[in-house]
Amino acid sequence: MGVEIAESPVTDETFESMAAFVYDYLQASVENEGDGGRMRWYPWHSAEYRFNHIMNVVELGNEIAESEGANEDVVRVAGLFHDIAKLEADQDVHAEAGARVAREYLESHGHFPGSFINQVCRAIEGHSHTGELEEVSLETQCVIEADLLDKVGANGITLMLLRMGYEARTHMDAAEMVQRVLQRGKEAKKRVQSDRAESMAHQRLKRVTWFRDWLVGEVSEMTVDEDELR
Ligand SMILES: [Fe+2]
Repeated sequence: MGVEIAESPVTDETFESMAAFVYDYLQASVENEGDGGRMRWYPWHSAEYRFNHIMNVVELGNEIAESEGANEDVVRVAGLFHDIAKLEADQDVHAEAGARVAREYLESHGHFPGSFINQVCRAIEGHSHTGELEEVSLETQCVIEADLLDKVGANGITLMLLRMGYEARTHMDAAEMVQRVLQRGKEAKKRVQSDRAESMAHQRLKRVTWFRDWLVGEVSEMTVDEDELR
């Protein structure tokens, strides 16, 4: 059995090539769909949106991994590949499918240690875990927390508001849509384990609350459920 080298196997250049591969893969998934492709016209079904979400997860995951002492390379690469199969596979199998694509890529590009590949694939596969976060590896936890956080901040609000147009809703529904992001944020805050993710969730929740109250305060006749307004 060989001794594996502990130094970082992922240079910035390596990471950039991986990111280009992920983007092309997403783009091809959308192009390969026929006209009957599921959710074809929804903004979150585009390669651009998905790639942007992925890069947000990479950034957030990095920040959490750094403060939690997790393996940053594992989190970075797992974050990058975590949703690679999202546009071609069903939701309940996209994590496993993504881990397979990542394994194939990592085994055929460069000389990544086997243990590194295994940790990355475990985190990708585990990112759809719905149970307690204590049950998964620290690196998987970082990816899950980053994934949750991206849905509850400015990006989450933007997507929800964009969605209104696709659903032919009026702009008067905006506060209600923001309220949904707030609800999702509260659930995310309860679920995250790390201090870093918790404080990020806290800050995002505050901002979403301000934005909702701002809408209700400035737009006459815009309301949300009174019980939920505090
Ligand atoms: Fe994701």
